[in-house]
Amino acid sequence: MTTPLDLFPITTRVDAGGRLWLGGCLAGDLAREFGTPLYVYDAETLRARMREARSALEGYPGPHRLAYAGKAFLCLGLAQILQCEGLDLDVTSAGEMAVARAAGFAPQRVHLHGNSKSTAELSEALDWGIGTIVVDNLHELELLRRLTAGRSARQRVWLRVAPGIDVHTHPHRKTGLLDSKFGFTLETGAAADALRQALAMAGLQVVGLHAHIGSQVFQPEPFARATALLLDLAASVGFAPQELSPGGGWGAATSPEEADLPLAAYGEAIARAAVERCARHRLPLPTLVIELGRAIVGPAGVALYRVRSRKEIPGGRTYLCLDGGMGDNIRPALYGARYTALAADRAAAAPEEVVTLAGRFCESGDIIARDVPLPRLEAEDLIAVPRAGAYCLAMSSNYNLVPRPAVVIVRDGKAVLLQRRETAADLLARDLPLPPDWSP
Ligand code: LLP
Repeated sequence: MTTPLDLFPITTRVDAGGRLWLGGCLAGDLAREFGTPLYVYDAETLRARMREARSALEGYPGPHRLAYAGKAFLCLGLAQILQCEGLDLDVTSAGEMAVARAAGFAPQRVHLHGNSKSTAELSEALDWGIGTIVVDNLHELELLRRLTAGRSARQRVWLRVAPGIDVHTHPHRKTGLLDSKFGFTLETGAAADALRQALAMAGLQVVGLHAHIGSQVFQPEPFARATALLLDLAASVGFAPQELSPGGGWGAATSPEEADLPLAAYGEAIARAAVERCARHRLPLPTLVIELGRAIVGPAGVALYRVRSRKEIPGGRTYLCLDGGMGDNIRPALYGARYTALAADRAAAAPEEVVTLAGRFCESGDIIARDVPLPRLEAEDLIAVPRAGAYCLAMSSNYNLVPRPAVVIVRDGKAVLLQRRETAADLLARDLPLPPDWSP
């Protein structure tokens, strides 16, 4: 059975006094030094997850590459680590591209995704010499035809295909279905038409096909199907892809009710399908590119919160109200995601009560975790929420004009600030006063 402690980063330990250590740093010290809420990333876990992801395709006899999906969480320091580890980077906006550039990412190793890229984003990507643009729709194809006219180098592109595969995940995270805003639909023939059109465009070099069928998926089978369908599509058009990307989306548990599966299961399913289909269609083995976000950063991140108050409802719930919440982690409210927690200074203590960890934001749905067994905690006690590394800060907001948390990375007893806490001055920085001649 998974325990809450199992969900913490690999360097986590609980000392004889019941205190939680992350990356050789005492959680309590981190909270005192950097304040709370605080997001702590464990460098060792990050590295281990990258290596496990890379080896997921080890059994594939052709070439393969690992990309990190920046949307799961991206900041300058993380981008520098990804760059050093030799991962490719998948970006979805000019903002993510700016972070990649600032980190010194080689443009050839960056892919630009998105169903609604702007002309400015596409132009910027072309000017930078971005490795791959993942074309999502006909409008974008036409834009690219115009933007690449007169350029000396042809732009490498993949086509994003919606392969009509249903996966077992929250409806908001299903992306490969017929009724999806993403990609060229396979069933209607739109994908084959778009592929023919793109192949005929002088400014483009179509090097591959891509599908991303969903996220937080725990079964390998749908990824094998997506891989097979992409190769069937290529063969039907007489196109031999140099590269093939069945996306990312491999799940990572966030609570003891879920179970992690090895990344190898995902990689093996994709590799097997690619080998089988290429043999069937007499296609050379393409370079397989997987682009994982959650499975890499999710397990590396821990959120630290302070309890601000208790509310006990006789005959009902006991709430612990925290100093963070949906502003830094909207996933429970948006997807019903389940998290768990430990008391950072009494991590070995037997549970004394079952509590609901409520956020500080003005919305009843602002709950970080329900029904968490914990020792009795009071105001100022420290709570540690594991598996908070993916899609928490990446989807953070300034609701209630609450500044966003700081981010640190820990290793061998050392903590380094990656993102400072936002301040009220940051929040006001974009605002302008009304001019004197404006009569309200
Ligand atoms: N590639 C593409 C084209 C994607 O759209 C995504 C995620 C990924 C790769 C990486 O998926 P991952 O390996 O991280 O599951 N906000 C949601 C997740 C949305 C995922 C969007 N696309 C959540 O918090 O669960």
